[in-house]
Amino acid sequence: MAEDPSPSCYSTQLRSHVCGELRASHADQTVTILGWVDLLRNQGGLVFLDLRDRYGSVQVALRPEKENVDNELLSSLHAEDFLKITGVVTLRPEENRNSKRSTGDVEIIASSVERISVAKTPPILVGTKGDREAEKGKEADEETRLKYRFLDLRRPSHQKRLMLRHKICSSMRRTLDDRDFIDVETPILTLSTPEGARDYLVPSRISKGSYYALPQSPQIFKQLLMVSGFDRYYQIARCFRDEDLRADRQPEFTQLDLEMACVGEEDVLKVIEGFVTKAAKVAGYEVATPFPRMSYHKAMLHYGSDKPDTRFEMLIQDATSIVAKTENNFLKKVVDDEGTIRVLGATKAVEHYTRKQLDGLSDIARQRGGGGVAWMKVVGEKGADKRVQSPIAKFFPAEVMEELLELVGATEVGSLVLVVADKNPTLAANIAGDVRLAVGKKLNLLKGKEKQLNFLFTVEFPLFEPDPDNPGAVMPTAHPFTGVHPEDEEYLYSDPTRVRGRHYDLVLNGTELGSGSVRIHKTEIQQRIFEILGISREDQEVRFGFMLDAFRYGAPPHGGFALGIDRFVQILTDAHSIRDVIAFPKMNNARCPMTLAPSTVEDQLLADVGAQVTDEVRAAWAKKEASE
Ligand code: AMO
Repeated sequence: MAEDPSPSCYSTQLRSHVCGELRASHADQTVTILGWVDLLRNQGGLVFLDLRDRYGSVQVALRPEKENVDNELLSSLHAEDFLKITGVVTLRPEENRNSKRSTGDVEIIASSVERISVAKTPPILVGTKGDREAEKGKEADEETRLKYRFLDLRRPSHQKRLMLRHKICSSMRRTLDDRDFIDVETPILTLSTPEGARDYLVPSRISKGSYYALPQSPQIFKQLLMVSGFDRYYQIARCFRDEDLRADRQPEFTQLDLEMACVGEEDVLKVIEGFVTKAAKVAGYEVATPFPRMSYHKAMLHYGSDKPDTRFEMLIQDATSIVAKTENNFLKKVVDDEGTIRVLGATKAVEHYTRKQLDGLSDIARQRGGGGVAWMKVVGEKGADKRVQSPIAKFFPAEVMEELLELVGATEVGSLVLVVADKNPTLAANIAGDVRLAVGKKLNLLKGKEKQLNFLFTVEFPLFEPDPDNPGAVMPTAHPFTGVHPEDEEYLYSDPTRVRGRHYDLVLNGTELGSGSVRIHKTEIQQRIFEILGISREDQEVRFGFMLDAFRYGAPPHGGFALGIDRFVQILTDAHSIRDVIAFPKMNNARCPMTLAPSTVEDQLLADVGAQVTDEVRAAWAKKEASE
């Protein structure tokens, strides 16, 4: 037996090596490996199988007649049986080597096979077979795969993503550790943290009728840690939000949460750039710093979103003053009502759209509650008889039309111009933003840029935005602890809607990855913000008294940030959904198909924690369920 040049760090009492580590350098060694039967092939009495573990898979050749391998066992092997195999690592003949596989130079000629666990036929395809099915788009539906998540996770692609997630988190921890941040755990059973979603509540058995809230974020505690003098904090923190789920949202998710004392915005942004670029490198991306900073105003104007996707141009422009030069038409009426006109132009686009598809763009506006999207086509033979074809062309005198086309760079034949009008400027901007993304997709403008990471910081957000459920009232754009732009403090008392916050968002390819701010650290300002939000002094004391009080004992200026780890890993691993980067995620109805959580509980249990459900409430639920 050859001497092992580098004893395996994975060796245990049961195995000498792991499947994925075997290479040509191990040739002639006798090894013992454990793993799952991945693929099984019977070639005229010679059985080949791939044995798989977390580290990869290796081919094993079983020759019952030559070796001491039980024939009966061999003929009853199944995929996913868990085996212990001892054998000699053997170099494969040159022509049989597989350069695509890290173990492809060798195979193990087995001398003994022990079946440690028998596998029933799995209800879904597992391991490499599962990945192959997924590549063909033929995998089992997601609910079934989540029901058998313990099997689905055996797929190498899942394992790779979760391992990369671990490496990304380790890298971020290391970067922050090196900068003297300390990891502090904050409570899970706590009081409501206002981040804009509903709380998950936990009834207290000891204080019947009282409830803890699960934290929507560690926001308040991390600020208090700054008051306590910890100066630089971070935590990989689980957060809980009872909100409608989408492809990039889960009811429980993980943040890399941090806070720093004695800082301004740029100090925090530099720290973010540091750990984000290093983490991206772990996933194989080189990212340049500094990331661009874009004001909220510019982002909303040119991209129609506070999370602009800058991987393609096609900037939206404001055409309100141009439309003001027209007469007697519905667009002009919007302008007269102090509304907003947004317009965007796409060259070489006309050929990609049928008339029906152009009219269909209005659905984008309607989905947001807007009126529609008007279109114009620049047509003509080689530009000789260039003209604009559009149901709204007649409203525009020739020179005004030319001005409009020039504004969006759509003067060439083949260009498409899309116009959005709304009384509500934010709605007009958002609809134009959605149209921009839809046109970008249709024209395939992201082709070849799939691997590009466009980070940017959106800055200078308004501190408040109108509350859609409460006309005339405002709500915080982020949360109520965001600091006030020093130049705008006076407006807190005259016109709060003009106040800019010291808030910043980290955006990656059109997704909000994280957000943070320099905070309020003065009691009076915090009280004023709560007052603007309609929280009475009394309620302030009940809900946030401890925080207002903390600021009375020498609170340092401070600021911080939280990165959505799940979203970051989803983008870095090119995963289809946020669920693909979470070991045990929930479906969009916030249920776990495997554990069947949440579940009903015995009435006695409810009574024990003082949370009895009355018959009236049950009847109301049943009625609601029946109507849905
Ligand atoms: P915010 O609420 O913006 O800020 O959250 C920060 C980041 O967390 C991620 N995120 C989510 N990810 C998955 N599922 C969800 N339901 C979900 N909700 C949020 C996003 C988001 O950008 N306390 C502040 C941060 C601060 O001010 O320091 C906060 O939580 O990527």
